[in-house]
This record gives sequence, C-alpha cells and structure tokens, in this order.
Amino acid sequence: MTKFYLTTAIDYVNGAPHIGHAYEKIQTDVLARHFRQRYDDVYFLTGTDEHGIKIQKTSAAKGITPKELCDENANKFKECWAGLDISYNQFIRTTDEQHEQIVQKIFKKLQENGDIYKHSYTGLYCSGCESFLNPRDLTEDGLCPDHLKKPEEVKEENYFFKLSKYKDRLVEHIKTHPEFIQPAFRANEVLNQLENIEDISVSRSKESVNWGIPVLGDDSQTIYVWIDALSNYITALGYDPVNPSEKFKRYWPADVQVIGKDILKFHAIYWPAFLMSLDLPLPKTIFAHGWITIDETKMSKSLGNVIAPKDVMEHFELSHPDAFRYFMMTAAPAGRDGNYSDNDFKEKVNADLANNIGNLLNRTLNMQVKYFDGEIKPEFITPADNEIAKAALAAVQAVKERFDKFEVAEAAQEIVNFSNTVNKYVNDTAPWGLAKEEKMLECAQVLYNVLESMRFIAAMLAPYCPNIAQDVYTQLNLEANPSDVKLDSLKWAQIPAGKITEKEKIKPVFLRVDSEIAGAAKKG
Ligand code: ME8
Ligand code: MG
Repeated sequence: MTKFYLTTAIDYVNGAPHIGHAYEKIQTDVLARHFRQRYDDVYFLTGTDEHGIKIQKTSAAKGITPKELCDENANKFKECWAGLDISYNQFIRTTDEQHEQIVQKIFKKLQENGDIYKHSYTGLYCSGCESFLNPRDLTEDGLCPDHLKKPEEVKEENYFFKLSKYKDRLVEHIKTHPEFIQPAFRANEVLNQLENIEDISVSRSKESVNWGIPVLGDDSQTIYVWIDALSNYITALGYDPVNPSEKFKRYWPADVQVIGKDILKFHAIYWPAFLMSLDLPLPKTIFAHGWITIDETKMSKSLGNVIAPKDVMEHFELSHPDAFRYFMMTAAPAGRDGNYSDNDFKEKVNADLANNIGNLLNRTLNMQVKYFDGEIKPEFITPADNEIAKAALAAVQAVKERFDKFEVAEAAQEIVNFSNTVNKYVNDTAPWGLAKEEKMLECAQVLYNVLESMRFIAAMLAPYCPNIAQDVYTQLNLEANPSDVKLDSLKWAQIPAGKITEKEKIKPVFLRVDSEIAGAAKKG
C-alpha cells in the first residue's frame, strides 16, 4: 500500500477566491490526480483559514458577525473549487469544532514541553501577513514589503514560542534533506532567514484579537493565527497529542505541502519547529509555487484588476474548466511566477488543446472512417517495439519523473512534446498518400499508432484536463475513465480490433476558443 498525502495552504476568507488562489488549488489537484494514477491511497486536503484580526475587522466593517462572514466566503471557495473540478478529499475550516479543540491541546502540549513562556513585548504587526514584522524587513517608508501597508505598533504581554531553540536542528534538517524545500533554489532563502531567527509571539491579548481560539486556562489570550492555521494539516486527520487517530497514523507525515512563496517562512521554519516540539515527523516536502500576475501587474483590490476563475470561464464561454486548468498549469515553470492575459490564454489553449491534440485525434478518426469504414482489423494492430510505441512509453516515464519533482508545467510540456512527435509522424508518413498508393495495411498501421498514442496522451493529460481526456476516451470507443488508469499498467496495443467509430460519432474534443471575442475578461 502506498499512501500519498498532499495539502494546500488554507485561504483567508476575508474575500472571494481569485485566480491566484485557484492556481494553487489546481496545481495540488493535478498532483493529486496524477498520483492517484500511481499510488493506492491519495489523500488531498484543502480548506479555509478563518480566524484573525483581518476577519474581525472586515466583518465589523460589514456589520455582520465574523462567523457570518466566514460562512459566506467559505462557501464561495467551495463553489469555486467545485467549478474547477478540484478533487479534494477533505475541506477543513479552522472554525470547525474539532479543529479548535485540538489546537488548544496542541498549544497546551507546547507549554508542557517548556517551549512557551510569557513575555512583554512591543512589535510591529501587519494584519495582511497576520504576523509581527522585523523592522529590518520593512520598506524604506516603513511599510510591509508584501502588503505595502504600515504595520501597527502593538504593545502587550503575549505567549512566546522558543523558536530559537530549534534553529540548529532546522538548519541541519534543511541541509541534509534536499527534498524538504522545493524547488531547491528556495532553500537558501530559508537558511538566510534562519540566521537571525528569534522567538516568536504565539498569542495575542483578547482585547486586540478576540476572533480566535482562546488559550486553555488563560482566557485573556487568543492563540496566534499561524499556530491555529498550520495545525490544520494534522487536526484534519484527527491528530491528538494523547490519542492520535488511525487516520493520522496512516497519512502523516505529508508527502507534499503546496504553498505560495510568500508563506514559505511559516511552512519551512515555524511549522517544522512546532512539529519538532510535538515530537512529530516533518513533512517530506514543502513546495513553494510562484505568484500569478494579471497582464504583468500584481492583482489587488485597489487596482481593480482581480480576476476570478469564473470570469475567465464566462468570458470564453467554457463548458468545463479544463482549458483554464491547463493554461494555469502551464503559465510558469515550477516555483516561478506566471502571468494571466486573455491573449496568452487563447493562444496557449488553441495551440495545445485544439490544434495539437484535438486536431490530431479528429483527422485520424476521419481517415479511419474514410479508408476503413471505422474498422480496426486484427492485422492493423501494431507491435510494442515500433518507434511510436517506444516514444509513448518514454513519454509516460518522462511525465512521471517530472511529477516526482512536482514540475507540473514541465510535465505538461512532455505530453505536448510527445503529441508533436506524433503529429510529425503523421505528416512524415502521410497516411493519405499511403492510401492513394493503395498501401492499405501500412496506412492502417500508421492510424493505429496514432490512435494508441491518443490513448496514452489522454491518460497523461487527465490530471490537467479530466473532461477532455474523458472525451478522447469516448471518441476512441473506450469505456474506462482515463483518470482511473494506472500509469504503470499502460501497455501498448490495447485498442481492440473492431469498429472504433463512424462518421456521425466523430466530434472535436476541444474547440478553439473564439478569437473574435474582444476586450479583456470581466474584471471582478
Ligand atoms: O496566506 N498567485 O492565506 P491567503 C499565486 N491563510 N498564489 C497566490 C496569489 C497569487 N496572486 N495570491 C495568493 C494565507 N496566493 C494563509 C495561509 S496556510 C496554513 C495559511 C496563494 O488567502 C498564497 O501564496 O493570503 C497562499 O499559498 C494561498 O494563496 C492563500 O493565501
Ligand atoms: Mg496572502
């Protein structure tokens, strides 16, 4: 039994989801769907982060309770993920009762371990980060570098966590586990931050933050949102310091935790330190993705350029989310920033999904009908040692290797490369020419090679485009769901002899997105 546990960051619910949030959830979904094609038991957790000063302030400004705001927005996230076919196994909300209770127990356990002490403190708090900032990290104008807002000066007595105690162990772990922080180019950044690491405040006074989980036995303090939020990865599984659940024992440690580059410090420093204090194993990999901009500009409410996934779907009148998923997943190399523009979207999905993959299938099926009445005879079936069959199996291997490094865009490129190879093969062998010369067996075998290749492509593409992949299977007259195909059992020559299709059944699996639609996607 091979298990694979993956998580996303949990989103703040003070607004609705945009395509940056979607980028992360789609990426983790593509990983989950791919690993389901390889492992027995994949568990995919996502959710929402609902406590903290920001929610408290936003709800107060709207004249509703924090819980009302959380319910309203958590639903928007759930609806958005449903529309994007995000196949999570569990959706955790940090206002779930079980989560709140376990967080209190976790805090108590950290106290019992002697890692928490009370300390009077003056600091600069950024509500955007939900974190105290170090004065040396501010911009020249004294603003938070991520949110470009002036942090608030806070003076109060808080609980502190002895982060500095874990510094040496953390450095050692990062240096001896190159797979821990991925992509690897981010590890140095974390090691630099660790050099000046200090103990951190892990609670706020109730007067300043009351929308949060109270410290057990000290009602005057609210547990810091990051202990609350980070713990979701284990509370969701039913972790309990005294009596951990079977589910926890089965899935923890996580195999990959996908997050944005802006919250790497919390995941690669704070989180492992908390886990060390709890005497729990660390996640195998923290994968930090880059950020998505719109037309090369940072998305922000004040600029009014925030785009929601449904804006793109409606603008291009997409009937399913595959094209959007595909575009987002190819928008940036692993860990790097990417950009969305209507034009790039159109060009990319037309080129890869409509022209490269869709047309290849369509023209091949049409030739199958034209020359062979849609019939595959036993002698058309090609052996597994032909060049195209070998290329198909090599493509599966290449895709797997990319996924082992969580290189989702690069894996998609491997699929497109293989599709290019097959397109070139069709153009070089010219089955229409073979038919003209009446070399019918040769012609049929070329077509069979392409149809088999399409079956491989659909299986590899299914994590990105589950609907299109299913349509390819339907066009190939295959009953299975390509998402359920185990990649290691993909063998050549599985399309059986018999009638594969007829004229009326041939349909494009992906139509070019209309190039006539003018203007930018509706900005939400
Ligand atoms: O940070 N492009 O929540 P959050 C790509 N609650 N990713 C983006 C993005 C963009 N433009 N904007 C946001 C939090 N993200 C905490 C996390 S985890 C225990 C707690 C990503 O709503 C961001 O990098 O601000 C993060 O991984 C996720 O969306 C949630 O961001
Ligand atoms: Mg954020």
